[in-house]
Amino acid sequence: MKGSRWFIALISASVLFSAFPSAECAFDPLDPNGNITIKWDITAWTGDGYVATVTMFNWQMYRHIEAPGWQLSWAWAKNEIIWSMLGAQTTMQGDCSMFHSNPLPHCCDRRPVVIDLLPLPPESMRIANCCKGGVLPSFGQDPENALAVFQVAVGGAGNTNTTVVLPENFTLSSSSSGPGYTCSPAMQVPKSQFLAPDGRRSTEAFMTWNVTCGYSQSLSMTPRTCCVSFSAFYSEKIVSCPECSCACKPTNPTEPVSSDDPDATAQKVCIDPRTRYDKLPSVISGGNSPPPPPSAPHLMYCTQDMCPVKIHWHVKTNYKEYWRVKVTITNRDFGANFSNWTLALKHPNFNNLTEAFSYKYKALNPYGAYSNDSAMFWGVTYFNDMLMEAGPNGNVQSDLLFRKGEDFTLRNGWTFPDRVYFNGDQCVLPLPQDFPTLPNGSPSLSARLSLLLVLVVSAISPFALL
Ligand SMILES: *[C@@H]1O[C@H](CO)[C@@H](O)[C@H](O)[C@H]1NC(C)=O
Ligand SMILES: *[C@@H]1O[C@H](CO)[C@@H](O)[C@H](O)[C@H]1NC(C)=O
Ligand SMILES: *[C@@H]1O[C@H](CO)[C@@H](O)[C@H](O)[C@H]1NC(C)=O
Ligand SMILES: *[C@@H]1O[C@H](CO)[C@@H](O)[C@H](O)[C@H]1NC(C)=O
Ligand SMILES: *[C@@H]1O[C@H](CO)[C@@H](O)[C@H](O)[C@H]1NC(C)=O
Ligand SMILES: *[C@@H]1O[C@H](CO)[C@@H](O)[C@H](O)[C@H]1NC(C)=O
Ligand SMILES: *[C@@H]1O[C@H](CO)[C@@H](O)[C@H](O)[C@H]1NC(C)=O
Ligand SMILES: *[C@@H]1O[C@H](CO)[C@@H](O)[C@H](O)[C@H]1NC(C)=O
Repeated sequence: MKGSRWFIALISASVLFSAFPSAECAFDPLDPNGNITIKWDITAWTGDGYVATVTMFNWQMYRHIEAPGWQLSWAWAKNEIIWSMLGAQTTMQGDCSMFHSNPLPHCCDRRPVVIDLLPLPPESMRIANCCKGGVLPSFGQDPENALAVFQVAVGGAGNTNTTVVLPENFTLSSSSSGPGYTCSPAMQVPKSQFLAPDGRRSTEAFMTWNVTCGYSQSLSMTPRTCCVSFSAFYSEKIVSCPECSCACKPTNPTEPVSSDDPDATAQKVCIDPRTRYDKLPSVISGGNSPPPPPSAPHLMYCTQDMCPVKIHWHVKTNYKEYWRVKVTITNRDFGANFSNWTLALKHPNFNNLTEAFSYKYKALNPYGAYSNDSAMFWGVTYFNDMLMEAGPNGNVQSDLLFRKGEDFTLRNGWTFPDRVYFNGDQCVLPLPQDFPTLPNGSPSLSARLSLLLVLVVSAISPFALL
């Protein structure tokens, strides 16, 4: 039965909700192996410690870390200090009053917090693959650049592999938004081998350990950031995002911020529900990581779903052998651009996607060839890889063309996606009973009607679809 897809989705959603009540790693069925690994390679011993190259690999297909970027922190197991760093820095020096050296150590905190350097620092502070202003691209979008590297010279650790004690309680967060990552304890792994560029000689690390961090979209506590609305050529009804998807509309929204912006005056302005992250640092980070830097509250359009980002899926055309969907992403936040945004979608017809216009596209086969029913999309560099802040340019659009299979039907909501993720955050979908329904008239009549509706709908600016 065609409708059973929804039933299964509902069941698995409720299982997920009950299985992850708190800020644990949420399992992402579209990216089951997605994680960020942090690898420490000791490459040299020093008088009182070691030099390590720390590499963060983002193995996640469609979840990147945006500017202002990642923050990595850990607790030293002994009384280690950081003499110096390349390619990154700690946010604070801490109390180095016990040291009479010149220069003083870079950081004496028991719990250093490391942030990236901005691009192109002086040559003397660089190391290969460093300094991206905290941005960590996703593996699906940019596999060659999905890493961040820094070097740290550690003192007070002893300089043999029996005196070195692995750091503990790693935390990784992205300071821009979201609840961040939950990290495993460090584990000693086989020593890394480094191949010389000509491939004719390899060297090895003295000691290597790994930490694995998984994204935790705390399902119960953190506000959602996106929702989905539907429409179809055969129905005049636009199914909006469910009410209160991300937050409920406040009863007394503030007045428009800027009266010289013609679009802003059209609607009331509300505070972005994501601002709430600032008030919940210890809940979100598991108690050990530093609170995120304070950020000014974002302002956004007031809507009944209060989501800063909306995805609209419009079933546009039904050809003989193909069918076409228009996907529009709208940013309703006045204070946020989304650079290198990603969209991940699950629909059974993704095994036969024929073309994605003006978005880049990659099939996701999370469980091998048997379930290639999901795909990720992102913008074309310098064209639409930046989803601009709310306003006339605050949207990106694409058409998807699918080849019909035997199970194609306009009935039972089959043409609508099962799951939608924006920047790796799961979006709230309309309930199946609200889907656009087929009119009772003959198919040919509805086909003719459809043409009219397509024209009408495309005449409405995406702005009006807010
Ligand atoms: C982390 O991701 C890599 C690459 O997808 C995978 O091989 C590895 O098993 C994952 N590790 C964990 C602990 O999930
Ligand atoms: C350690 O991390 C590196 C980099 O992600 C990965 O290639 C390697 O397989 C990991 N080792 C183990 C034992 O997980
Ligand atoms: C790591 O966290 C645990 C649990 O909170 C704590 O008992 C332990 O002392 C911490 N380790 C360090 C080195 O601070
Ligand atoms: C520790 O060092 C000793 C002597 O240098 C070496 O034989 C041994 O393999 C090292 N152990 C590890 C885990 O690297
Ligand atoms: C978004 O990007 C535009 C163009 O680069 C810039 O003018 C604007 O200040 C940015 N807005 C925010 C909130 O970063
Ligand atoms: C997106 O990422 C690519 C490479 O990772 C980068 O060259 C490009 O500037 C980024 N786009 C934006 C809008 O930040
Ligand atoms: C999906 O899987 C089928 C086999 O099950 C394969 O023939 C087809 O090429 C795959 N499609 C994509 C887009 O990977
Ligand atoms: C994919 O398209 C082929 C024809 O190219 C069709 O035979 C097959 O049934 C389609 N698969 C699905 C699942 O839609």
